[in-house]
Amino acid sequence: MAMEKKFYLTTPIFYPNANLHLGHAYTTTLADSIARFHRLRGDATYLLTGSDENTQKVVEAAAKANVSPEAFLDTVVGNFRELFSKLDISYDQFIRTSDKVVHWPGAVLLWERLVEAGDIYKKKYQGLYCVGHEAFLTEKDLVEGKCPDHGTKPEFITEENYFFRLSKYTPVIKEKIERGELLILPMSRKNEILSLLSEGLEDVSFSRPRKAGTLGIPVPGDDSQVMYVWCDALSNYITALGFGREDDTLFRTFWPADLHIVGKDILRFHAAIWPGMLLSAGIPLPRALLVHGFITSGGKKMSKTLGNVIDPLELLAEYGTDPVRYYLLRHISPFEDSDLTQSAFRDAYNGELANGLGNLVSRVMKMATTHLEGPVALIESDHLFEDAVAVHIERYEINKALDLIFEHVGKGDEYVQSSEPFKRIKSSDDAVRAAAKEDIEKLVHHIYKIGVHLEPFIPSAALAIKRAVESHTMPPSLFPRKE
Ligand code: MSP
Repeated sequence: MAMEKKFYLTTPIFYPNANLHLGHAYTTTLADSIARFHRLRGDATYLLTGSDENTQKVVEAAAKANVSPEAFLDTVVGNFRELFSKLDISYDQFIRTSDKVVHWPGAVLLWERLVEAGDIYKKKYQGLYCVGHEAFLTEKDLVEGKCPDHGTKPEFITEENYFFRLSKYTPVIKEKIERGELLILPMSRKNEILSLLSEGLEDVSFSRPRKAGTLGIPVPGDDSQVMYVWCDALSNYITALGFGREDDTLFRTFWPADLHIVGKDILRFHAAIWPGMLLSAGIPLPRALLVHGFITSGGKKMSKTLGNVIDPLELLAEYGTDPVRYYLLRHISPFEDSDLTQSAFRDAYNGELANGLGNLVSRVMKMATTHLEGPVALIESDHLFEDAVAVHIERYEINKALDLIFEHVGKGDEYVQSSEPFKRIKSSDDAVRAAAKEDIEKLVHHIYKIGVHLEPFIPSAALAIKRAVESHTMPPSLFPRKE
């Protein structure tokens, strides 16, 4: 018997110190479209997302807002879920790393496994610590004594921490990446990480002293320390599946992950530290990492000071779910940095959705409902996904998959223009009328197929197109023009 295929994919877990911007929305929408594609193919699919809660940033943001960290987290995480629901993200689980029942036991078990492997040791550590990064920086990283990303002066601190012997795993990680057993996409990111690995990895600080108010998971056997982000956050990908809990069916079914989707800034964590931890614990490595670039706005990194932050909620309120998904998936590259401005968004909306897809569907259904007696008889091939589109999706070239689908929108338009069935159907010649009718039927099949192909990307519009064809009715106006 053929085994059912499984597909487990994850987004990063998001810091809930502030609301999510469009960059975060991108990662999640990309993941969702891939998950939907696999579900449509009949794969047992599991999409995980969540929030990275045990951080100093949250403590500070909560203090600023004058509420407890717990209350602060509940509000922000509520906002995350609301955003994801507005974006139609079909996640199977939302993990919160503050969850002592779901997350903590697995993080503890993972730590213990690393201890058993002899890979955890204590060491005094001195360095410049940036709260914004939650990481130690080197002098080289600083600009005029300040962290260039946060504009703040790092604190010089001395700590005694636990360390993880990452250095030991450098050769194996390198080999697995070179051989493609751990696939890193795109190639440029694979090369970037391989060059880092050829310099050798240093051991990493794996815990922090617990101070009053520190959030986080106590180090097993040493309450004076809490786990640092590596074991606390990266572990979410397995704890969510029940690793370390009594019922670990999901873990046994879905691990290893088929795909971790991450932004370029967290490549090193996922391509070096995480594989090192898994190797030490004797857990199989994930199969692939898809590393996307950043969304810039007007050529610049989105920042509050520059005033160019694009709030996904505003776009959603103005245009609705599918147009936002459409833009992110078609016009943002899954591999490189891409720019988004309000005016580019509007142009794409009007040109490609309102005048393109929406117009074609409404023209075709207008002709169909006026001139055909009933719904066209759908055939098996109407439901089939074209190989060329599927191949792009399998390579995570989501933008190219959409380019191809929209070529079909263009072809449909050209066909309406050149063959003018709406004119020929009025002919007094029976043969001309019959041929025009056939053309209209062909066009109805054509838009149905477009609907089928659009399902992973813009699910509501795709469904509306399919329903219109099946029920032989005009669809509601899909994308009204915006002035
Ligand atoms: N909590 C860590 C990830 C831990 S995963 C075990 C984190 N959180 S984050 O909220 O800062 O970022 C989450 C994701 O959003 C990252 O993949 C990051 O690359 C992505 N983005 C943040 N800004 C972005 C853009 N402007 N554009 C595209 N993605 C961006 O990092």
